[in-house]
Amino acid sequence: MQVNFSGRALRYTEEEIQVVVEAMRTADPLTQGRFQNAFQEGFCAFNGAAHAFAMMNGTAALEVAAQLCFFKEGDEVIIPSHTFTSSAYPFARYGTKLVWADIDPATRVITAESIAPLITPRTKLIIVVHLYGYVADMPAIMALAQKHGILVLEDACQAIGAELDGVKAGNFGDFGVFSFHSHKNLTTLGEGGMLTVKDERYAALIPMLRHNGHRAFPAGPEGRPDYWIPAMGDVDFPELDGQRLWPNNYCIGEVECALGLKQLERVERINAEKRTRALAFIDALHDYPELEFHRVDSLRHNYHLLPARMRGTALRRDDFIRRMFYEYGVKCVVQYCPLNRYPLYQKLGFGKANCPNGDDFYDHMISFPFQHCLTPEEFEHMLASTRAVLDAQRSGKAHGQ
Ligand SMILES: Cc1ncc(COP(=O)(O)O)c(C=O)c1O
Repeated sequence: MQVNFSGRALRYTEEEIQVVVEAMRTADPLTQGRFQNAFQEGFCAFNGAAHAFAMMNGTAALEVAAQLCFFKEGDEVIIPSHTFTSSAYPFARYGTKLVWADIDPATRVITAESIAPLITPRTKLIIVVHLYGYVADMPAIMALAQKHGILVLEDACQAIGAELDGVKAGNFGDFGVFSFHSHKNLTTLGEGGMLTVKDERYAALIPMLRHNGHRAFPAGPEGRPDYWIPAMGDVDFPELDGQRLWPNNYCIGEVECALGLKQLERVERINAEKRTRALAFIDALHDYPELEFHRVDSLRHNYHLLPARMRGTALRRDDFIRRMFYEYGVKCVVQYCPLNRYPLYQKLGFGKANCPNGDDFYDHMISFPFQHCLTPEEFEHMLASTRAVLDAQRSGKAHGQ
């Protein structure tokens, strides 16, 4: 049996497929229409956000959030080194300094304690990534940020529906960003994203930032002679307090929005099913302390992914992954190379980080295949294979023996 680290998270239900078919038949226009409005409203109702804007992916939402920060050269952005690249690069294009924060080794997310020593008078933004689907300690981080007057962005791309103290991920900070990419617990046909904001002034600018600087003509005292005069719609720079932003086209299609709205009905069930499965896997391996999981039996973790740290050397971790794949057909992977190790960040001068926990975790981590559509047979095979490989490692049997 093969267990792939699948490129897709879910199988769509027949009802979801019907919603797509119906939207294909009826949507007019096919972008920027009633399904987008309904998805945004549905997302606010689901998540508790004040304002939500659907976009073509999470990275586009991050790009727009970065624009709204109105960075000046030399502003500093605190961000975990252990995250996906698009948590970071949209913020680096403005000449900002990326300041790498370390993760807590147990929870694998940054904390108020790891952030506090990095704050300077130039700190403009803290980016908190709820990596793997676990909500960081936002009350403590918000208290710290508010004390210093710093903006907070939650990269909740992996954490849809996860919550802390009854507040859903993305709802603590100034900005919340979500991804509906193929791997995610809610996915709008492979690409999709959402930006949530609290501030009305940001909310007023986002439609223009998303859609080419388009806006309706202001209703003048005389009105317009005809709907096409002087043009169908107006085009301008989105502006805040005299500061200009360049517009983009980051729109998402109507069919994706129709599907996203429908999937909001199911995402909490998907999260619960993944959590139940994660806990079953972790508990079944209780007698194997060489694998260190993050066990969270609450809504705070949606188990988008199922990572573990392997005790011992990095070579032992690689041996584990090799055996799982070549002997049992189970494809584990290694995720989230500390960003300071990539050429892109090194070329920007951000190649050094004081993040020993993030480095250690990456060098010892194993991410198990954990797509929602894993079958019970695949799950059992993965569990049995994990036990078998750990037993073989304990007995000192070499790979292939
Ligand atoms: C933590 C994190 N941030 C940002 C992104 C970017 O989202 P997208 O792929 O929708 O652009 C992703 C996912 O891909 C992610 O996992």
